[in-house]
Amino acid sequence: MTLNPLIPGSGSIRILDQCLLPYAETWREIDTLEACARAIETMQVRGAPLIGVTAAFGVALAMRANASDTALAEAVARLARTRPTAVNLHWALARMREKLAAAPASERAAIAWREALAIHADDIAANAAIGRHGLALIAEQAARKPGPVRIMTHCNAGALATSGWGTALAPVYAAHAAGIPVSLWVSETRPRNQGLLSAWELSREGVPNTLIADNAAGHLMQRGEVDMLIVGADRIAQNGDTANKIGTYLKALAAAAHKIPFYVAAPTSTFDAACADGGGIPIENRSAAEVQRLSGLNELQQKTEVCIFAGHCANPAFDVTPAALITAILTERGSVAPANIATLLDS
Ligand code: MRU
Repeated sequence: MTLNPLIPGSGSIRILDQCLLPYAETWREIDTLEACARAIETMQVRGAPLIGVTAAFGVALAMRANASDTALAEAVARLARTRPTAVNLHWALARMREKLAAAPASERAAIAWREALAIHADDIAANAAIGRHGLALIAEQAARKPGPVRIMTHCNAGALATSGWGTALAPVYAAHAAGIPVSLWVSETRPRNQGLLSAWELSREGVPNTLIADNAAGHLMQRGEVDMLIVGADRIAQNGDTANKIGTYLKALAAAAHKIPFYVAAPTSTFDAACADGGGIPIENRSAAEVQRLSGLNELQQKTEVCIFAGHCANPAFDVTPAALITAILTERGSVAPANIATLLDS
């Protein structure tokens, strides 16, 4: 059964508060536009596809309170300001706006809820298709040598980042279910430690995994201990340049140096037709406090933080991996070389 971090109700949604994971599983009920926007901003929900789905429900919740043209425009504007890099947010808002703009105000609340549910269902289907396509790539690796396929991932592009089995981790779960032995290298992903989320959800599904410090990735590739990498994406430009969580670029450089296949898995809602190349992708700069502090468990088993440094820090949250370093991009429509994105989107 999929771990679904967002469960739609009839007039509200329930979200798993990812700020407290992996230490506590706390669900929160969200029933207003503002609560939705805050959940995205504070990263209680996170991951590009899940941010898009949450924003769709944010618009739907806004329409239940006030379905005027002004309220629609304000809801879309409020949600669009929450996080800058994941383009799935803007894709979902555009889909909601298009559906609602032509509808009479009296029908908007019902239409909006149906459309948000459809976006949620489409994300589940896209995850499943990415899993099927990626399974073939993992099976190819498995046929090359005995023992588990050793896959490195970064950040969390699993069930917690989506509505289904994830993007980068969907092929992993599909391989595990098919009886192909896999073993995951999961990088910590400082400063927000999304790697812990990946380790948590993989362990929950019984998939062998090992957490590493971010700086260990190159060493493991150099030692021949990585067969392939699969990461997610937050925005993919027309030329295949890909923005993903900070640290992805360094992994891609090391993978290229050691001739290890480097795959990006993302639904087509992550492609930005308005962005010619990676230079046009907005990179989120987050608070220095996230670098200055470490979080963990205190003696009462509660999440707690300590300050490790009070000086000047910078916190760019994403980086851009050039298309030339990417072996293929894995979408719900199949896998494609970055140079051939246009053919995939036209199909
Ligand atoms: O800042 P986050 O946690 O929302 O980061 C987004 C991500 O989860 C990753 O960059 C991920 O690899 C792509 S989204 C499936």
